[in-house]
Amino acid sequence: MKFESVKDMPPIGFGLWKIAPDTCEQTVVEAIRCGYRHFDAACDYGNEEAVGRGIQRAIAQGLCTREELWITSKLWNTYHAAEHVPAALERTLNDLGLDYLDLYLIHFPIALNYVPFEERYPPEWIYDPDAPAPRMKLAKVPLSETWLAMEALKESGTVKHIGVCNYNSGLLHDLMNYSNMPPEVLQIEAHPYLAQEKLIRIAKDYGLEVTAFSPLGSLSYVELDMAGHDESILEQTEVKSIATRIGCTAAQVLLRWGIQRGTSVVAKSTNPERMLQNLTAQDIVLTAEDMAAISQLNRNRRFNDPGVFCEAAFNSFHPIYD
Ligand code: A2P
Repeated sequence: MKFESVKDMPPIGFGLWKIAPDTCEQTVVEAIRCGYRHFDAACDYGNEEAVGRGIQRAIAQGLCTREELWITSKLWNTYHAAEHVPAALERTLNDLGLDYLDLYLIHFPIALNYVPFEERYPPEWIYDPDAPAPRMKLAKVPLSETWLAMEALKESGTVKHIGVCNYNSGLLHDLMNYSNMPPEVLQIEAHPYLAQEKLIRIAKDYGLEVTAFSPLGSLSYVELDMAGHDESILEQTEVKSIATRIGCTAAQVLLRWGIQRGTSVVAKSTNPERMLQNLTAQDIVLTAEDMAAISQLNRNRRFNDPGVFCEAAFNSFHPIYD
């Protein structure tokens, strides 16, 4: 399928966060073979070269064409200044072996000091990892400057669509005021424990498509000590009983809840069985009662919160949602 508009973005995407570079090429080929056509990449994931090799291998094997793939990537925090935005995209395109992206997103509404490619890539969060007390170093770059540079990329045709991640409603209102080309996609953490109904509603009112990352909730965060073992939404009685009734897995119920409420979702699995299971969540249907029961699980539990992890990991207190 060719993508005419951002509404054609396949609803279930394959998330590439935390896939080790040495296994990532093969994982991407397997995901494409399994049927995924939407890949959610980022400079910061540190695996774009491997993702690129996987894409090229799959195309060479005739599994798909470039035009059948929806490839998203994200501008990292250290490249927010207008002069760094096109160079960051170029690096991502080179690593991915592509001549255009379907979607380019501002990864976080956080501008960090520039780190040249040759010094460190991806530069991650800390400005000088060798400093006695390593911490983040903020850059004085307004988000409007970054956005206007994103618009120029869209105008040049090297990215088909542009958008933002991790923006709250205040930042979104402001962006709608200064943009010449409105954002087309908002990517946010969203799952039954963090339903984000108001933010999704205002984004849609503004005409954006919304993509949910971490649609399975805590799972990605346990290994990072950012979630407890007892926080799995997959273990919730309501979710399990819906899954039993339908004859699917709890993970499929959560992914289907995500897409049935009108967001796309990006989920990662390196396990071939779970990879397929996640993709086929699009084939099940939840009743209105199921949807409501799952929505009621909301407890505004955010797992990916710079106001928490920046302080713990980077010695820098930097909330963005509070
Ligand atoms: P694995 O790669 O071993 O399957 P998210 O994309 O929400 O961050 O979730 C990713 C996490 O959820 C990974 O730890 C992944 O592990 C796990 N996971 C992905 N799909 C499923 C599934 N269908 N059932 C259970 N766990 C899953």
